[in-house]
Amino acid sequence: MAGYVPGEQPQGGTWIKLNTNENPYAPSPAVARAIAAAASDRTLAKYPDPLATVFRLRAADILGVDPDWIICGNGSDDLLTILVRTFVGSGDRLRMPYPSYILYRTLTEIQAAHADEVHFQPDWSLDDSFASPEKNLTLAIIANPNSPSGTLLSPDRVKALAERLPCPLVVDEAYGDFAETNCLDLVRQSENIIVMRSLSKSYALAGLRFGFAVAQPHIIQQLRKVKDSYNCDTLSIAAATAAIDDQAWLKTNRAVIIATRQRLAAAVRGFGFQVAESQANFVWCTHPNRPHKPIYEALKRQGILIRFMDYAGWGDGLRITVGTDQEIDACVHCLKTL
Ligand SMILES: Cc1ncc(COP(=O)(O)O)c(C=O)c1O
Repeated sequence: MAGYVPGEQPQGGTWIKLNTNENPYAPSPAVARAIAAAASDRTLAKYPDPLATVFRLRAADILGVDPDWIICGNGSDDLLTILVRTFVGSGDRLRMPYPSYILYRTLTEIQAAHADEVHFQPDWSLDDSFASPEKNLTLAIIANPNSPSGTLLSPDRVKALAERLPCPLVVDEAYGDFAETNCLDLVRQSENIIVMRSLSKSYALAGLRFGFAVAQPHIIQQLRKVKDSYNCDTLSIAAATAAIDDQAWLKTNRAVIIATRQRLAAAVRGFGFQVAESQANFVWCTHPNRPHKPIYEALKRQGILIRFMDYAGWGDGLRITVGTDQEIDACVHCLKTL
């Protein structure tokens, strides 16, 4: 099998890094204070709480669910691993849209299972074939908002798909905090819907590794059997709790990112690109008559890293992460020159 290849993470140098959907701002100052406090004394000599209870209590309060409805992970990638290992055995099928987050396919292949890819429509909607029953179909996953498009399916559409599917549906809301709607309410209505969130993007903590999933408690109990005992460490639990506690920081940061996203999308459209309607912290751009790869390469030569994505059977395009206003100005200026 081909392994998953993450986006470039250049070490050193002065890159404008707009390639892996990181938040360009520093996290809430409460995060560093929480890490310092957790690192003092002999706390790190002891194993962490296997269930990250302080985080679950705080998140449950903020989201309006019971703490037993939450499981935490070492980033949402860890939760994806746990979910796929729980539901998908050798020879089973995992339904996913295409193009979407490439890791879904990798995790399926690790299980010696079959990736059942259903192509998005050209307007990034998903037709009913996504929910068609199939023998050994044991799990479905959608990223909502989707990557690379940034587009969003409405909760009504997700609900309709989940009702037709013969298996649980994971709604990966890694970018959900930037979107106008989310599917958390659907978890209360259906045992077949599992919502995942990440602190990497909207809380500016990609380097920390923390995410969580929300599902009905009998599902969470099964997921707990599969996860590593200590999948979240003491420092990340303390930091994630401080981050989610600072909802004022989230609100301000989200507003800044959305405003910059709108400015970026308008500027890029002005250069003749088609830009999908993004509800995330990145935009997906395709040009009707200019090849994409040379644009990516030219920006790279200028120290600006964006993502060139080429999806077999679908086409290629450029995904640009929303950076600071200054970073986006530099990127737009470079595109204009090109
Ligand atoms: C759709 C989607 N899900 C999950 C992740 C992984 O996020 P985390 O950093 O929480 O593992 C990403 C990261 O880029 C993503 O794009």
